[in-house]
Amino acid sequence: MKSGNRRGWFQSPLRVVLLGVAMLALTLVFANVPPASAAGETGYPTLADQAGATGAGNKAEMWRGIRSGEQGLVSIPNKSAGVLVQSEGEAWRSFRNGPLMTYGGWVLGGMLALLVLFFLVRGRIRIDGPKTGRTIQRFNAFERGVHWLTAGSFVVLAVTGLNVLYGRYTILPLLGPDVFAAMTAYGKLVHNYLGFAFILGVTLVFLMWVKHNIPNRDDIDWALKAGGLFSKGVHPPAKKFNAGQKVIFWATVLGGAALGFTGIQLLFPFSFAPMADMQLFQLVHAGIAVVLIAVIIAHIYIGSVGMEGAFDAMGNGDVELQWAREHHSLWVEEVTGERPRHHGGPGGRHHAPAE
Ligand code: HEM
Repeated sequence: MKSGNRRGWFQSPLRVVLLGVAMLALTLVFANVPPASAAGETGYPTLADQAGATGAGNKAEMWRGIRSGEQGLVSIPNKSAGVLVQSEGEAWRSFRNGPLMTYGGWVLGGMLALLVLFFLVRGRIRIDGPKTGRTIQRFNAFERGVHWLTAGSFVVLAVTGLNVLYGRYTILPLLGPDVFAAMTAYGKLVHNYLGFAFILGVTLVFLMWVKHNIPNRDDIDWALKAGGLFSKGVHPPAKKFNAGQKVIFWATVLGGAALGFTGIQLLFPFSFAPMADMQLFQLVHAGIAVVLIAVIIAHIYIGSVGMEGAFDAMGNGDVELQWAREHHSLWVEEVTGERPRHHGGPGGRHHAPAE
């Protein structure tokens, strides 16, 4: 008999370790098993209860509900957390990362290409007639202040907004994740706050200039001659703003209003609109922004390098009288009493080219 040498079962360290591991495994297994009736204990129905599932093998209805975006019950204040799968989100994401970005890129790139082409073909639009050496006030300090408030905030909003849309494909590979993340986080902050400055600017632009931007019959003549933009020496008459400027004005006011409205919805999530509406607002916000940026790029070109004498109007507020005669003959007539040089056609409102 070897019984005298036999050690007790618990005296083998290996057996003790194995027993310990087995107990630990059992504890973990049981700890993960949900209680038989979670609903009964918490007072809230489980998703399976909500979907009316009867047994472990019958979850089809529950999953159908989850997949179709049904809202289950949650005990936290954010009720939208009860939606586990928001299927419209897929549609939103594929539109944002697909057609929106692609066509947006074409619109912006197309506008830049057109302006380069226009510059190469037409060159800088010069003052045709001899300069008088005299100036006339075009915009007072308040008007210029409002313009630059709107313009300054818009340019920063445009740059930071485009970074959110295109930055990860263009700037991230150049600057790396650390710089890009910091830059984008600060940019988003700036974007949120400057939105209010832009809304104020657009409101003042509207109040200040709406009376000069009501379409009238001069606009038809101006548009038929394309404002003389493509033909040297042609200067259709215009009051304070010509038809092209009225387009810029209404694009700024209506586009700005739409951007402000959708921007506020996105700035205060779920305060005014549910998730699906916010996704729509995001697409509208980005789409309108891209189109307005393209329009404003053309405006910036004509208001600076594209046309001699134009920038002064928003710079110090005074423009060369000859510039004003060529581009806003009816306005000069209103302000100074000066008659346009030549009259022609029915109604006699056709202004001559340069003197
Ligand atoms: C940042 C560069 C910009 C420059 C150099 C610029 C230049 C000018 C100039 C020179 C005028 C006066 C034109 C005239 O005397 O007839 C003007 C007018 C105007 N600007 Fe700007 N602008 C800029 C940005 C913007 C932006 C970002 C907006 C709107 C978002 C804007 C909206 C307007 C509007 C509504 C007018 C009156 C209508 C018109 O003249 O087209 N501008 N700008």
